[in-house]
Amino acid sequence: MNTILVTGATGTLGAPLVEQLRRTDHPVHTLSRHPGSLQDTAHAVDLRTGHGLHDALTGIHTVVHCATNPTGGDLQAATHLIRAARTAGVTHLVYVSIVGCDRIPLGYYRTKHTVEQALLTCGLGVTVLRTTQFHQLVAALCARAARLPLMPYPDIDVQPVDPAEVALRLARLAQEEPAGRVADLGGPQVESFHDLAATYLQATATPRRPVPLRLPGAVFAAYRSGAHLTPDQAVGRTTFAQFLTRT
Ligand SMILES: NC(=O)c1ccc[n+]([C@@H]2O[C@H](COP(=O)([O-])OP(=O)(O)OC[C@H]3O[C@@H](n4cnc5c(N)ncnc54)[C@H](OP(=O)(O)O)[C@@H]3O)[C@@H](O)[C@H]2O)c1
Repeated sequence: MNTILVTGATGTLGAPLVEQLRRTDHPVHTLSRHPGSLQDTAHAVDLRTGHGLHDALTGIHTVVHCATNPTGGDLQAATHLIRAARTAGVTHLVYVSIVGCDRIPLGYYRTKHTVEQALLTCGLGVTVLRTTQFHQLVAALCARAARLPLMPYPDIDVQPVDPAEVALRLARLAQEEPAGRVADLGGPQVESFHDLAATYLQATATPRRPVPLRLPGAVFAAYRSGAHLTPDQAVGRTTFAQFLTRT
């Protein structure tokens, strides 16, 4: 029996992952700062301090690390996790990262890449899966932009993916042997943000005119070059339009 703990279990990805794993025979534990459950398998731990982490990892074989905070602290969190995992005898750490995190000079992406490297060199069994942007992120960006009289959108392509499909892949990886960096997982289509914005406006019956934004700088140039896309790994099935219809 492989006892699996999911960090970030209350998040966009963590929640469907816990759902997937609970359909297996493996016992599932969860961890976040505000677990919202009174079960003794739900651990309230702030990974940035690491307090309580050793107890949470006792008896755990595999950790799927989905917790994140784009405003900072992910490297500190990963450092605590690696140290506690080693002490507790965790045999497999599964990490979800972002396609192009080593090519797009955004602070958050740099941290993701540094965490990848820390994990892959820590000596424990590790699997790293990179994915493209989640549908929820694109929808949230559209919702925020559509509050303005004209709807600004970044003039780039995106390949959004359904986190439920990422969860399915992670659930499989968590039940397999550590595999290092595995093939990326991308959404089914590379689409222009213009088309995604138009899809959003149609689905939400919002009358707005989308206006393309081109920004100076290396980050935008990297997005324009498609560093965050993986057209050869377009294995997701749910399109952005289908996601909006469903939600
Ligand atoms: N969103 C995307 O488009 C996207 C694309 C590719 C890869 N990813 C990766 O997928 C993973 C999950 O992303 P997501 O969008 O599901 O994130 P999310 O919805 O923001 O969820 C973050 C989770 O982390 C927990 N958390 C945050 N800070 C914590 C801390 N200090 N200690 C313990 N738990 C903490 C949160 O719960 P509490 O607030 O209760 O602590 C929550 O459960 C991340 O590694 C992200 O980089 C995301």
